[in-house]
Amino acid sequence: VRRLTVPAIQGRKKDGTTAEPVVMLTAYTARMAQLLDPHCDMLLVGDSLGQVIYGLDTTVRVTLEMMIAHGAAVVRGSYHSVVVIDLPFGTYEASPEQAFATAARVMRETGAAAVKMEGGEVLAPTVEFLVKRGIPVVGHVGLTPQAVNALGGYGARGRSAAEAEKIQADARAIAEAGAFALVVEGVVEPVARAITAAIKCPTIGIGASPACDGQVLVVDDMLGMFERVPRFVRRFDNLADHVTTAAAAYAQAVRDRSFPGEAELYLPKVPKA
Ligand code: KIV
Ligand code: NA
Repeated sequence: VRRLTVPAIQGRKKDGTTAEPVVMLTAYTARMAQLLDPHCDMLLVGDSLGQVIYGLDTTVRVTLEMMIAHGAAVVRGSYHSVVVIDLPFGTYEASPEQAFATAARVMRETGAAAVKMEGGEVLAPTVEFLVKRGIPVVGHVGLTPQAVNALGGYGARGRSAAEAEKIQADARAIAEAGAFALVVEGVVEPVARAITAAIKCPTIGIGASPACDGQVLVVDDMLGMFERVPRFVRRFDNLADHVTTAAAAYAQAVRDRSFPGEAELYLPKVPKA
């Protein structure tokens, strides 16, 4: 099987409509990537791994080394989806040259096909710089978690007319700069709808309504690994409950010495007669 390509994803949207929505989930490990890969079009190695894997409270302290280690694992675990890797805070914002060096290193050391960066109009020249030099870019506008210290929290964006207009201008700038897809996070439905209608590349929503050309969720949220999740998450399973039940059963079996049992023992070789 040949891996999906960046142009194939971009080409899903024709004359402003997307017949087949773009399916994206985050992945951080090789085995999870293997399980998700056949069902997805894109796997995102999100800097959400800061919270999900490392127990950090924001994405601001995620390092490039973390992204590269997990990115390489996800590429090794997948053969079908386009793998996209988040550039972490502080590794791309200063200049197009800084972003190019970071993105090139990420692609060389992981084998991923594309990178994602948070930002609007200010970042558009950087997106253009990378795209013109052969690095496919996914944009990310609306609620941009790396800017949590500036935004003051994770509330939905675009409720006021001024903020709605700014987010739409951000989306247009990033799309016109050549991004092949645009993550739209945490915006009110009319803004997501207007952006999707206005730009040529597919929009991938998270907390951004079904008006988008595709959807993405953090896989651990979607699997029910966390007690508290944002309003926009649908829990498709309760993995935390499964883990709790299994851990309790294991502990009980060790304590009552019913594990390991007959079938789980190595026995010495019986000498041939
Ligand atoms: O880091 C991440 O997981 C993301 C998605 C939620 C879009 O950026
Ligand atoms: Na992210």
